[in-house]
Amino acid sequence: MNAHRTDGCSVDLLGEQITTLLADPATTHGLARTLRAAAKEIELSRYHRASQKAFPSGLVAAAPKKVQVGGGAHRLDGFFNIDAVPPADLLWDVREGIPLQDDSVDVLFSEHFLEHIDYPVSAKQYAREAQRVLAPGGRLITGVPDAAFVLGQYPAGPEQAEEMISRWYGKRDCRKDINTYLDLINYVFRDQDDDPTYNPHYWAYDFEKLSQLFTEAGFSAVEPWDFDPDLANPKRQWASVYVVATK
Ligand SMILES: C[S@@+](CC[C@H](N)C(=O)[O-])C[C@H]1O[C@@H](n2cnc3c(N)ncnc32)[C@H](O)[C@@H]1O
Repeated sequence: MNAHRTDGCSVDLLGEQITTLLADPATTHGLARTLRAAAKEIELSRYHRASQKAFPSGLVAAAPKKVQVGGGAHRLDGFFNIDAVPPADLLWDVREGIPLQDDSVDVLFSEHFLEHIDYPVSAKQYAREAQRVLAPGGRLITGVPDAAFVLGQYPAGPEQAEEMISRWYGKRDCRKDINTYLDLINYVFRDQDDDPTYNPHYWAYDFEKLSQLFTEAGFSAVEPWDFDPDLANPKRQWASVYVVATK
C-alpha cells in the first residue's frame, strides 16, 4: 500500500512514532489516551484507503439489495456486510459516506453501531447517505442502546443495575469502575474505554432522537421495529431501541 502523504507528512510514519511514544514510560496518561485513539484511527484509515484504491470511482462494483453496516462478528448471510475493520465484505469507514449507488438498496441494517460515530457530523452524514442509497420504499433498520431505558430507572441502587452490568459489561474489565447507577448512565452516553479493541460511545439515542435524525435526513416515516432474531443479534434485544425508517 502506498504511504498516505500530505505535504511531507506520512500517516504511516505517524503510526510508527505513536507506537514508539506509547512504549515510552515517560509518555503521560493523557497523551497516551489520545495517541491510542489516533493509532486506532490510523488503522481504520489504512483499511479505508486500501478499499478506496480498489474502487477509485468511489462506488463499489456490487449493487447489493441488503446491506449491514457495523455488524462486526455478527455477519449476516445474504447481506453485504460493511465494517471499518475485518471481518466484512467491504472494509469502509462510513463516516466517509456509503460507497453504493443512489436508490439501489432495499434494506440497510445496523445495530449498536450508530452510537459509535460522532454526532452531529458523522451521524447526520450517515443518515443522509442511508437515505441516498436506499431505493424508494427502502427500509433503514437501526438499533442502539436505549438511553430512555437507562435513564428511566434513575435513581437506582447498584444492585438494580446488576442485570445491565452483566449483560452489557460482563465481558469487559470495567466492572470495578461501575460503582453507582450514574456510572452506568455514563457508559451508555460516553463510554470512554480506550481499549484498542473497543469503540467508544459518542452519543446516546432514544426513539425520539432516532426519529428526529432520520426525519431530518428525508425519511418519510420512522416507526418502532419489531425485533426479529433472524436478522438482529439476539443479545442486543434487551434494553435496546430499534426503529425502521422508510424512504
Ligand atoms: C459495538 S460493535 C457492534 C457489532 C454488532 N453490530 C453487534 O451488535 O454485535 C460496533 C461495530 O461498528 C463498527 N464501526 C464503528 N465505526 C465504524 C465506522 N466509522 N464505519 C464502519 N463501521 C464502524 C465497528 O468496527 C464494530 O464492528
